[in-house]
Amino acid sequence: MIRTHQAGALRRDDVGATVVLTGWVATRRDHGGVTFLDLRDASGVVQVVSRDLPDVHALRNEWCIKVTGEVGARKEGNENPDLSTGHIEVVATAVEVLSESETPPFPIHGSEPIDSGVDETTRWRYRYLDLRRTGPASALRTRAKIVSVIRRVMERHEFVDVETPYLTRSTPEGARDFLVPVRLQPGHWYALPQSPQLFKQLLMVAGLERYYQIARCFRDEDFRADRTPEFTQLDIEMSFLDEEDVFALTEELFAELWRDVLGVELPTPFPRITYWESMRRYGSDKPDLRFELELVDLTEHMQGTEFRVFQAEHVGAVVVPGGAGYTRKELDGWQEWARSRGAKGIAWLLVPDPATGDGGSELRGSITKLEAERLTSLPAAAGAAPGDAILFAAGPRRTTLELLGALRNAVARQRGLVREEEWRFLWVVDAPMFEPVSSDNPAVAEGAVAGWTAVHHPFTAPTEAYAATFHDDPEHALARAYDVVGNGMELGGGSIRIHQREMQQRVFDVIGLTRDEAQSKFGFLLEAFNYGPPPHGGIAFGLDRLAATLAGTDAIREVMAFPKASSGGDPLTGAPTPVTERQRKEAGIDVRPEL
Ligand code: AMO
Repeated sequence: MIRTHQAGALRRDDVGATVVLTGWVATRRDHGGVTFLDLRDASGVVQVVSRDLPDVHALRNEWCIKVTGEVGARKEGNENPDLSTGHIEVVATAVEVLSESETPPFPIHGSEPIDSGVDETTRWRYRYLDLRRTGPASALRTRAKIVSVIRRVMERHEFVDVETPYLTRSTPEGARDFLVPVRLQPGHWYALPQSPQLFKQLLMVAGLERYYQIARCFRDEDFRADRTPEFTQLDIEMSFLDEEDVFALTEELFAELWRDVLGVELPTPFPRITYWESMRRYGSDKPDLRFELELVDLTEHMQGTEFRVFQAEHVGAVVVPGGAGYTRKELDGWQEWARSRGAKGIAWLLVPDPATGDGGSELRGSITKLEAERLTSLPAAAGAAPGDAILFAAGPRRTTLELLGALRNAVARQRGLVREEEWRFLWVVDAPMFEPVSSDNPAVAEGAVAGWTAVHHPFTAPTEAYAATFHDDPEHALARAYDVVGNGMELGGGSIRIHQREMQQRVFDVIGLTRDEAQSKFGFLLEAFNYGPPPHGGIAFGLDRLAATLAGTDAIREVMAFPKASSGGDPLTGAPTPVTERQRKEAGIDVRPEL
């Protein structure tokens, strides 16, 4: 080794030792004849002092150097308690430049926060410099630790780690596929897997019983903070199980992760809530329970009203504690917020508080034309207290609940109601099995159902109550699907699968797959189901989401080594790039095979 110690590992005990260190110049300060360097390597930073070495003045930030010297105790008063090496310094006897650096495109001292104002494209373009900073580097270390805990837990339960193909055919998870042309069969394309779903089910038919994989998944969908087209799942499948097995395993895994990574004890078991209860109370299938603000249902209160705005399938509200003090501008802000989400708007009512004078002396709002009796009884019906504001939405049930759910989140953030130090997990169960696909076809009346699609994926079993009838009542059928939600983020989802051919066929019928289409797309799975498939089920967790949550960031790109920019491209390598004529020809991209 060309060094004797790691810079960040030196302590008081090392005083007097002669050391050779390597790393990067984080900062250089000249004080008369004395030069102070902060030397950074992967382990941390140590202060290097040079009293008389002439070469030291030439050093610049981010040069890679080797320092020989002796560890000395810092003088009292010069100690730095924020630094683990803050009690010592290395008095240099020789400095060797290993390589020089240009001035980096952004400052890299080391300890500034992850998002220190440098724009994202520049960070990803120079990710190798971004990762020299403590915050970004520690996010990657947290991720590695998570993977190590995961493997420990999975191995303890005798799960077998199996790799499944990346070059495969379409696996349905509801997104578009990334396609790969095949040179040896011009005009034919592989799809990259949206998840290992079908393969893990085949592994259950194969009798493996307990499978897991840390698998890359590819979905050609739009970016969000919690979504990128290429991401990683912890994918799990088990045979001879029911929901309780999946819940228990997940809770054990999460408890161990939070304990080992953050030193936090998570209360288990996690509470469970049905999908519709979650929609009704929180307007979301991934509710954040770190604040209350449950939605209020006023549909009945508005039954038979002459007031047009509230003649709707659903009328609901969020009560904003202390919101009677909202200014006109703030109330207009909510209108704009609603419109930017494609909604018509938000109605409002301020409940006066005689004690503070907030909200004036009588009910004020955009709905005062409502029948007098309905209006005066409204604060009580909504559970609003003097000094509160009531924000209303009305319209079709699902979209209105979703708007109110988003409003609930936005209000909580705006009013500082989120208890940031809490960890709140829950299971959302009994999701609908199908949802309508509304057609863009103008011949189909607005709101009419043009067909059905599986909410989870089409291999998900119905609940017992709907096993025999789901095909006659797709609207109400419930699935044996479950999502695990943490602090408002969907961290994982899975289901008990269908293992009977006949039932699988009925699902395909509901989602409008003809027998031929089902055969050509999933014939291999249906065929496998001819050979004694065991009852099975599983779950997949978004590893990036888990890592982001544990690393304390909202953006999953922070826990990816080389993330793509929101445009979908990779600013570092410049991918994707056009291909040459020759590559097109070789890959058979333009060949149209006879189908
Ligand atoms: P699902 O599609 O719910 O289920 O995905 C499981 C989990 O993967 C994460 N996830 C994503 N993370 C980042 N970017 C994305 N684009 C993205 N899409 C999904 C989420 C999600 O909860 N095969 C089924 C699982 C099963 O049934 O066992 C599946 O893929 O955290």
